[in-house]
Amino acid sequence: MTRAQRKIDHIQFALSTGQSCSHGFSDVSFVHQSLPNTSCEHISLQTRIGELSLSSPIFINAMTGGGGAETERVNESLAMAAKHQGLAMAVGSQMAALRDKREELSYKVVRRANPNGIVFANLGSEATVEQAKRAIEMIEANAIQIHLNVIQELTMPEGDRDFTGALRRIEMIVKECAVPVIVKEVGFGMSKETIQKLRNVGVTIIDVGGFGGTNFAGIENERRQRVLSYFNDWGIPTAASLVEAESVGGASLIGSGGLQTALDAAKAIALGASAVAFAGQFLRILVHHGIEALIQELAALHEDLVLIMTALGANTIEQLQHVPLVISGYTHHWLTERGID
Ligand code: FNR
Repeated sequence: MTRAQRKIDHIQFALSTGQSCSHGFSDVSFVHQSLPNTSCEHISLQTRIGELSLSSPIFINAMTGGGGAETERVNESLAMAAKHQGLAMAVGSQMAALRDKREELSYKVVRRANPNGIVFANLGSEATVEQAKRAIEMIEANAIQIHLNVIQELTMPEGDRDFTGALRRIEMIVKECAVPVIVKEVGFGMSKETIQKLRNVGVTIIDVGGFGGTNFAGIENERRQRVLSYFNDWGIPTAASLVEAESVGGASLIGSGGLQTALDAAKAIALGASAVAFAGQFLRILVHHGIEALIQELAALHEDLVLIMTALGANTIEQLQHVPLVISGYTHHWLTERGID
């Protein structure tokens, strides 16, 4: 199995396995306010993650690249949609292009399609400082994402089996790279213990990448003869993971993992996120309905977020982070068991 074929398999299996919607946001309720004392015109979607200023809290999360013309086309379309709606966008892992220069185009196309946009580089935690610098330079990235994907690797027949030294490498990348570093999961969520370790080495932007959306154990199991079914339900749902992260404090949080609607986005922000990221949902709209449909979806998400913020009387993303919430069900149980309230 070549790396390029794996990238294409990931897209196909992400589309066919879908998102489970077990992110926990149905356990989170806003408290209706009959006197919000604001107007849709007063709502600002501007936000900050670390030192980065974003005109929208929604961005397109890391998906692809390194699969030849097919992933190049997907990345170009995602970048064009991001440009149209003023969204930031991450590319998929650039390790393929660091190993084979011919794959660079499928990443560089993102910068070419959106010369002034906010673009994030992406590598796994096996990356060295030198590789991180090359990935940033390749697409003139405004920030770099370092992904943590232990369960995906363990489920992948050809995946890594040695995860030693990842935190130390992340620490070095944070120290040596000139752009902000975002550490992200890929759909298994992060615990407060993980967040604390990242905080201890100077990480200031964390994407919890929670369970409940695209499931990489499920995707890799589709590619295996002997299925490791015990990993299919493994992970911390996004809602619980955000509260775990918020309990540690000190970092800008990104809420992702299974987000499909503006209501999911609003709830992730109310749980502490400064920005939210969608992956599988945007890929599905692009591949099944085309770029115009994706652009319309992005516009609708912004419109809906403004309506929700108006209803809650939250003029800014910061105010939305502090609206009252009621947490019930499994998420409540999880947080109680974990000693977080
Ligand atoms: C991904 N994701 C991902 N993440 C990453 O950091 N580097 C990568 O190369 C990839 N590759 C990738 C390919 C495809 C086809 C998908 C759908 C996703 C993970 C992605 O950024 C996100 O963390 C998860 O998909 C969970 O979010 P959603 O899809 O539930 O919104």
